[in-house]
Amino acid sequence: MDLSVSVGTLSLRNPVIAASGTFGYGVEFAELVDLNRLGGLVVKGLSREPMEGAPPPRLCETAGGMLNAVGLQNIGVRAFVAEKLPALRRLLREDAQGFTTAVVANVFGYRVEDYVEVIRVLEDAEGLAAYELNISCPNTNRGGLEYGTDPAATAEVVAAARRAATRRPLWVKLSPNVTDIACIARAAEEAGADALTVANTWVGMAVDVESRRSRLGRLTGGLSGPAIKPLTLRLVYQVVRVVRVPVLGVGGIQKPEDVIEYILVGAHAVQVGTAHFLDPRASVRLVKGLENLCLRKNINRIRDLRGEFSPEKC
Ligand SMILES: Cc1cc2nc3c(=O)[nH]c(=O)nc-3n(C[C@H](O)[C@H](O)[C@H](O)COP(=O)(O)O)c2cc1C
Repeated sequence: MDLSVSVGTLSLRNPVIAASGTFGYGVEFAELVDLNRLGGLVVKGLSREPMEGAPPPRLCETAGGMLNAVGLQNIGVRAFVAEKLPALRRLLREDAQGFTTAVVANVFGYRVEDYVEVIRVLEDAEGLAAYELNISCPNTNRGGLEYGTDPAATAEVVAAARRAATRRPLWVKLSPNVTDIACIARAAEEAGADALTVANTWVGMAVDVESRRSRLGRLTGGLSGPAIKPLTLRLVYQVVRVVRVPVLGVGGIQKPEDVIEYILVGAHAVQVGTAHFLDPRASVRLVKGLENLCLRKNINRIRDLRGEFSPEKC
């Protein structure tokens, strides 16, 4: 059985990638899981300077999911390159089939110049497989969503990042908080994205009925987890029909069947986020679960399932 997939020029041993912000910088999970079992991992969003993030509380549980307002707390791109990336490289090794877990750097900025500067620093580093441009974070006052909700702004930041990213593929992570995701997806593709990650969290709120205040340190947060899977699955289906570049599906994945659903509607690979908060080993367990499911169902090559969903059978 063959779980390998490709995302453009990048070959992955399997389609399971740990999603940004839910798997630290990867190194923190090495005591719990063998990172060499994953297709890839996306590190926490990196900014030009370290960011303190949003005030607590930063997480709250909701029915079938979770709201977060972490606000992109991170150590800054230079500390990541100096401290985390070398440690990560020591933990990863090429397997017998020639695959190495792909390390993807999630890139964030307040302004276009910030995104460019983060990529410029990463360009000099070794051990990365791709960049993922976060133009969809709902938890900052500036940057992020400002770019991801407007096609012209998307095109501007993606084109600038594209010029800076000479060494590696550029993935662009889209926001679900838009009226017409197809339009933003096309803008990102035309501006040079090599792949699209669909999607970030859905903006939501939760109110504490005693204090009558937000249950988060901010007014709103990003909803993730199983509650969003049907919503994001539909976005993936919409996006794959209007772009030629590969699409990574991310939203609410917990079970092997969820991965298959995303692949059937056209995703090349998937990312797993909130499931790590229930079980830090979730993505590695998912790989094992996928192997078992493929064995049971006589699926020899998981990539053959991509786009096999039939809308006419609805
Ligand atoms: C606590 C938390 C932090 C996150 N931080 C980031 C981030 O830094 N950059 C980013 O692009 N997405 C971030 N995300 C979004 C996830 O990568 C993912 O797109 C989203 O949670 C949906 O997937 P899920 O339902 O499997 O969690 C974060 C999500 C959570 C729950």
